[in-house]
Parts: sequence; C-alpha cells; structure tokens
Amino acid sequence: MINMNISKIEPTEEKLLHFTKLPTHIAITMDGNGRWAENHQVTRMEGHQAGSKAFLKVIERMVQYKIKIISMFAFSTENWSRPEDEVNNLMQLSREFITDNLNLIHKYNIKVNHLGNLNKLPNDLQSKINESIEMTKNNTGTIINIAFDYGGKQDIVNAVKKIVAEGMPIENINEESISNKLATANMPDPDLIIRPGGELRISNFLIWQAAYAEYYFTSTLWPDFNAQEVDYALTEFSKRERRFGKTKD
Ligand code: IPE
Ligand code: IPE
Ligand code: MG
Repeated sequence: MINMNISKIEPTEEKLLHFTKLPTHIAITMDGNGRWAENHQVTRMEGHQAGSKAFLKVIERMVQYKIKIISMFAFSTENWSRPEDEVNNLMQLSREFITDNLNLIHKYNIKVNHLGNLNKLPNDLQSKINESIEMTKNNTGTIINIAFDYGGKQDIVNAVKKIVAEGMPIENINEESISNKLATANMPDPDLIIRPGGELRISNFLIWQAAYAEYYFTSTLWPDFNAQEVDYALTEFSKRERRFGKTKD
C-alpha cells in the first residue's frame, strides 16, 4: 500500500510552475521498468512495482495542473507475447494497484476509463476495472484512460467493424465519425505524448489519435519518472509551436 497524504493534492498555485500553455490531453507510454530492474539488480516484477509508484506520483502532479485527460499505456496487445509468468505478474500487480489505490483516486475526483479489450483479462481483474469505472463515473476532475490490452491498430479495426455493423452510409464516413468509434470517442486527441525509457517509437499507442501530437522522448526510465520529469515535459511542450499545416505566425 502506498501512503500518500491527500492534502498534498490540493493545488498550491504559488508552488506550481506557470506554463504559457498546458496540454488538454497527455498520453504516456510507461516504458523502462525492466531496464530499471536490471540496473537495480532486482526482479522485473519489482521494476513493475516501482513503475506503479511512479504512476501515482505522475498522476498527482497532473491533477495539480488540472490536466483534463491523461492516457496511460499500461499493457499493449503485443505484451501478451511476454513470458506467461511476467504477464501473470502484471495482472496481479494491476489487481493490487486497484485494491490499494481506488479510494485515493476517487478522492482526487478522477474519473477512470479503460481503453482496449477487457474480455481477455482475468475475470476478477475485469470486475475490478469495472468497479473503478462505476465508482468514479460522476467525478468531474481529470479523466484517466488506462490503456490495458490496448493496440492502436486494433482500435481502428474495431472502429471499422462498428461502422460496417451499423451500416453507416458512405457519405457519413469521415474523420470525425471514425474518431467517434475509437476507444477515445468524444475526447480530444492527445496534445502531448510522453515516452520515457529511451525508445524512439510509438509502439502501437493511439496511432490515429497521435496524428498531430507533440512528442516528448526521454531516456529517464519510467520508475524514475516523477513530478519534476512532468515539469520538464510540460516546459518543453510550452515551447513548441503547433502549426497544424499552417504557415508560421
Ligand atoms: C513497461 O516496461 C511495462 C510494460 C510494457 C508492461 P518494460 O517491461 O517494457 O521495460 P523495459 O522496456 O524492458 O525496460
Ligand atoms: C510499450 O512498451 C507498451 C507499454 C509501455 C505498455 P513495450 O516495452 O512493450 O514497447 P516495445 O516492445 O519496446 O516497442
Ligand atoms: Mg519496454
């Protein structure tokens, strides 16, 4: 159980950095737990445990900044190809994380949402995820999308299936109607995608939605990610000029 003092979450404006602009939607690929474990000569499981502590710290910072939407990539459709033991450990860690932290997340006024397939997960984990969604559904603060068994290509395939199943007329198929069939339906696309862990790739995360995101890559491994790392990423974001194809101002 990770103890956090709830009073710490209250925004203390004078202590927060003043960014010229903040992203509405931030997506993070939580990568580097295995290498962190190797560096610290502990098991990969302990690396993932350290990663879930970072998750809380990062969320706390982003709630302070009143970020509207955060999408956290926790388990990809490709991660099923890891050794069975590691997959089981990740499922177990997720169960424990929800059990230990759901009340805290609820107190933070966070609304939990899930991206990806629920049906391949163990039944009790599905129930815990559903319980988190149900308990927080009327919360009005930050929305946290947990991408667990999520793949961007699969997201698009599912959207196409829904469109075909509904018999949507061809003239109604456009970027907006496709976006509204994705797991992130009715949410704005991510403005900033953060990838710790040193890899310079997207790894099938929100590939449609990332079309115009700003990317922030860092070699910091996910378990070492913290409030200061969030500040670095937000500082970098506030320096970016987003043109969306237009000429420079
Ligand atoms: C990310 O850390 C966690 C998951 C993908 C579930 P990794 O386990 O990929 O860590 P590295 O990349 O091996 O360091
Ligand atoms: C991406 O990390 C997926 C998650 C962090 C959940 P991976 O470690 O699976 O990505 P690759 O295999 O290095 O591209
Ligand atoms: Mg990795």
